[in-house]
Formats: sequence, C-alpha cells, structure tokens
Amino acid sequence: MANVVVIGAQWGDEGKGKITDLLSRSADVVVRYQGGVNAGHTVVVGEQTLKLHLIPSGILYPDTQCIIGSGTVIDPKILLGEVDMLEQLGIPTDHLLISQTAHVTMPYHRLIDAAAEQQRGSHKIGTTGRGIGPTYADKSERTGIRVLDLMDPEGLREQLTWTIAQKNIILDKLYGLPPLDAESVIEEYSGYAERLRPHVVDSSLTIDEAWRKRKNILFEGAQGTLLDLDHGTYPYVTSSNPVAGGACIGAGVGPTIIDRVIGVAKAYTTRVGEGPFPTELHGDVGELLCQRGAEFGTTTGRRRRCGWFDAVIGRYAVRINGIDCLAITKLDVLDDLDEIKVCVAYDIDGERCDHFPSSARSFANCQPIYKSVPGWKQSTSHCRSLDDLPKAALDYLKFLAELMEVPIAIVSLGASRDQTIIVEDPIHGPKRALLYANGEASAQ
Ligand code: GDP
Ligand code: IMO
Ligand code: MG
Repeated sequence: MANVVVIGAQWGDEGKGKITDLLSRSADVVVRYQGGVNAGHTVVVGEQTLKLHLIPSGILYPDTQCIIGSGTVIDPKILLGEVDMLEQLGIPTDHLLISQTAHVTMPYHRLIDAAAEQQRGSHKIGTTGRGIGPTYADKSERTGIRVLDLMDPEGLREQLTWTIAQKNIILDKLYGLPPLDAESVIEEYSGYAERLRPHVVDSSLTIDEAWRKRKNILFEGAQGTLLDLDHGTYPYVTSSNPVAGGACIGAGVGPTIIDRVIGVAKAYTTRVGEGPFPTELHGDVGELLCQRGAEFGTTTGRRRRCGWFDAVIGRYAVRINGIDCLAITKLDVLDDLDEIKVCVAYDIDGERCDHFPSSARSFANCQPIYKSVPGWKQSTSHCRSLDDLPKAALDYLKFLAELMEVPIAIVSLGASRDQTIIVEDPIHGPKRALLYANGEASAQ
C-alpha cells in the first residue's frame, strides 16, 4: 500500500492529467483536493481525448473511487456537464463521490471574477474567469455556500436570499452590473442539488475507511506550485493550495498517511495568465514550443506563454512539496531544437541568486543564468525505454535530475498512455529523505 500526492511543479498544465491517469491503474481511490473548474486535465486514451475540470483523472477506471474533496470549489453546472459528457461516451460515473463540505461556485462569483479583472486593468491577474477567487474569498469570509447547504432546500433558500441581496449591492455599487434574481438562482441550484445528491458523502470518512483497509490512495493536485496562494508568485496565483501540503487540508487527512510526493514538470516551462516568468521566450523558439507542444489552455483556450526549463523554480518545487521523484513530460516537444537552455540560477541586479525570491518585484527583475546543452534533433515519441533515447536526450534528463537533486521516475514523450518511459517505480522508489541520508543529494 502507498498513498501518493501528484502535484504540478511549475505554473500548471504540466501533464498532471496524463500522469494521474497512468498511476490510477494501481490506485483504489483518487482524490482531487483543491481548485475548481479553472483546472483542465487532459487524459488521452486511444482515439479519445478527455478534458476534465473537476472530475479526478482516475475516472476511467471503474473500480477506482473518485472523490472531489472538501478543499475544492464546485461549479455544479460544469461538473454535471462533465458527468453527462462521460456518460455519453459510455464511461460510468457512479464511482464519483463529492465532499459535502466543498464550497459551491455561484453565478455571482463568476460575475465578480470577470468584473474585478476588468477593473484591475493593467494590474489584472489573467484569471480563468471561472469565479475561483471570489468563491474562495467567500469561504474565508465565512459567507460561502457548501455542498451540504445545497442539500437542504429550506436552509438554501434562506441563505441564498440573504447572500444574493448582499451580492446585488456589490454588483451594482462596485461594478455597475444588474442584480441577480434570487428566485431563479435558487430554482437553478435546487435542480443541480437533486442530481448531485446521490454522489455526496463525508469524504474524509470515506478516505479514512479506505486507509484502514490498506487501500492505495492517490491525491491529484490541480494548478501548480508557482500558482499556490501561499508559496507561488503572489499576487499572480490562484486562490487555493496546489502544493502537496494542500492535500491534507483539501482531502481531510493527516500528513502521516502520505507516503510519497510525485512532482510533474514539463521539459520546458509554460504559464497562462499574467505575472513574471524569467525564462519566457518571445521569438521563434517560443513559437516553436507553443506549436509543437499545442500550448493552448485546456480551460480557456488561451495561448500559453512558453520558455526554457527553470531549475531554480524546479528546486523550489522540490523543497516546498517534498518531491520524492519527478515525472518529466513533453520531452518530445524539444526534438527539433539545435540547442536547449536551462536556467540554473538568476542574476538579480548583478548578484547571483540560487533560490526563488518571494518578492514579486525581485522575481520580475530576475535575469536567467543559462547553461546550454545540445539538442538531439530526432524524434523521441516512439521511445519506450531509456536505451531508446538519443544520448543528448538522456544527458538532458540527467542534467535536470542533478540540478533538482531528485530522481526522474517517469518520462513522457507524447499525450497517450503508451508514450511513456517508466524509469523506476514512481510509487515505491526511494524517498527524498533517504537520498539525503545516503548522501546522494547535497544538504545545502
Ligand atoms: P494538466 O493540467 O497538468 O493536466 O495538463 P493539461 O492537460 O492542461 O496540458 C498538458 C497537455 O499536454 C495536454 O494536451 C496533454 O494531452 C499533453 N501532453 C501530456 N504529456 C505529453 C507529452 O509527453 N508530450 C506531448 N506532446 N503532449 C503531452
Ligand atoms: P491546471 O490544473 C494553468 C492560472 C490562471 C491565472 C491564475 C489565477 O490545468 O494545471 P484563477 O482562475 O485560478 O483565479 O486564475 O492561475 N491558472 C492556471 N494555469 N493551469 C491551471 O490549472 C490553472 N488554473 C488557474 O491562468 O494566471
Ligand atoms: Mg491544465
């Protein structure tokens, strides 16, 4: 038995959906622990491409319990659309469970998200416009609607009548928007409640029952480390905690049940939305990565900004999450390049900096210090073992592992399940702490 957390080690879209789907083969329970429909996780199976926003990427395995945990925020309309999409494809969803304490994204959250972004002008965050920030803000302000509130028609009416009256003042006075009609919102959400009801559980209890039976539990992160509310590039972050520590709070489990943390990172870097990005490429190479990597947002269709691999944020992600091993994705996207650069440190106002600076201003001033390595100039998408890889590709992977001081357990060379090299057992391989104990990583 092993309970693992899968997290994004960069700014999201690292390929968590593919890796979670792969690892779900040996999981009994998969839990999404934070975020909402801002996430877009792609799972490709044969000819079928599934884009999942809230439903855990383990859903394709009918014997795996899939749980949307209490740390998530749920947009019922989009969630039910996802359920319908899967059912139409013949993929059962009766093993989907929803935490009763997750918060619900309401129409006013989406309106406020869009209007606030517009008002921020040049200071905008570049959110997905899915109402995520305002839903989490209401949670912190203790005015949110939870799934269990949706399940209580009388209580919901009372709560929504009051809340919508308050939100209408904000919509009008702050944003000049027309008011919402409380009755129609109550009617709409009462309808969603009845469809969701059979899936709603006390998910912490369900997970604990699985743990007591020594089941394998996989915690699926959304977004990425640099988008974390506490540890990311604040204020250009999301409003939840994608880092591994977020799994405990968002699933309702103690840290002692987590055995391993697997970090997912692209062989280069992308970012959607605003905010500093030291290794961003604006010229031909950036365009090549965007086209070859099909770097357009799964949720919003926005073009993702592309750049070289940044080992400073990689090392930071290893530290903040306690990553035991890495899954490096999209290596194939680099196939055509003559030369590949990796940022090994930053230059901030003439001083070398080896660590991620917390201040947004300092981060915006970081100039990457690059090390160049030769490209391999041949296709890798057919490779199924390390021996199949060109030497330069193997050297590139070794270089990344050395810089981040953690082993690479998985290499992904295409979107489908079989385009994968399992270098070592990602679930039962050595733990990071052991690498230090054995002197295989430096204790700097
Ligand atoms: P997530 O949000 O971390 O799950 O990632 P997304 O699904 O938003 O974006 C990753 C994209 O890359 C998806 O379109 C995947 O199908 C695709 N993908 C995943 N792994 C690979 C890979 O190794 N090579 C290539 N070319 N595409 C990949
Ligand atoms: P997955 O799970 C990439 C980004 C948005 C914006 C910032 C805040 O697919 O990796 P929000 O709507 O959350 O308030 O937006 O976070 N963002 C993502 N970027 N992948 C995601 O999810 C993201 N979810 C949010 O672009 O910059
Ligand atoms: Mg995504």
